[in-house]
Amino acid sequence: MIPKPIVAANWKMHKTPQEGVKFLSELNNLLLDKEMPSIIFCPPFTSLFHMNEILSDLEYFLGAQNVYFENEGAFTGEISMNMLVSCGVQYVIIGHSERRHIFKESNNDINKKIHTVLKQEIFPIFCIGEKLDDRETNNTRKVLVKQLEEGLLGINKDMMSKIIIAYEPVWAIGTGINAVPNQVEESHDMIREILLDLYSMNIANDIPILYGGSVKPDNSEELIKTKGVDGFLIGGASLNLEMFSGIIENVHNNSMR
Ligand code: PGA
Repeated sequence: MIPKPIVAANWKMHKTPQEGVKFLSELNNLLLDKEMPSIIFCPPFTSLFHMNEILSDLEYFLGAQNVYFENEGAFTGEISMNMLVSCGVQYVIIGHSERRHIFKESNNDINKKIHTVLKQEIFPIFCIGEKLDDRETNNTRKVLVKQLEEGLLGINKDMMSKIIIAYEPVWAIGTGINAVPNQVEESHDMIREILLDLYSMNIANDIPILYGGSVKPDNSEELIKTKGVDGFLIGGASLNLEMFSGIIENVHNNSMR
């Protein structure tokens, strides 16, 4: 597992391969010779190959935003783990709320994908989080328990050492309304308690838990200082050089413990 803190950029459906490569070289020039957290880029599938070609000289990691759970076959439009590995992918985001809600992925699909990723010795970034009405009806814990229990079905203790969790409350994603430190601390605590029930104290304490949802340079300092936060999964702000490097600097300055 890469060292904490971890900053992962989820570019969603943004940037061509050329734009991705340009962003990477510009960011690298900005951060040259600076100490950094571990940084994972998750561009669209079409950029993975090209970004990997320049990543091998740089100290960043490459992630995909999704994968299909079958190895090959008649699954039009899907991408397999072998294909991702051949593009240099080391991480795969699984169960992002947009996959769950727009593309109707179930906990069962997500569980199959986590197994598929782990079989290739690749690290899943497993996303969980409640919707606004779950929070308003005090069902956050219930939702997180279900997502963790069903998403991690059949995943044993050894496999858990390869998983990164991203706590992303759905109401905070892309809305400009981030969860405040109290809410983040409470949810990360809940997740560790649930993992303690399901696994062990070591796993609950050591697993990296990233926060995601409207992370920006100006809230990143207080969020990274929040107890239990090991880094971020960043959408919108990861597309902008100044914003993304600002967050990276805040993470570095406030969490290198
Ligand atoms: P956001 O997205 O930073 O734009 O809120 C986060 C995510 O979806 O991972």
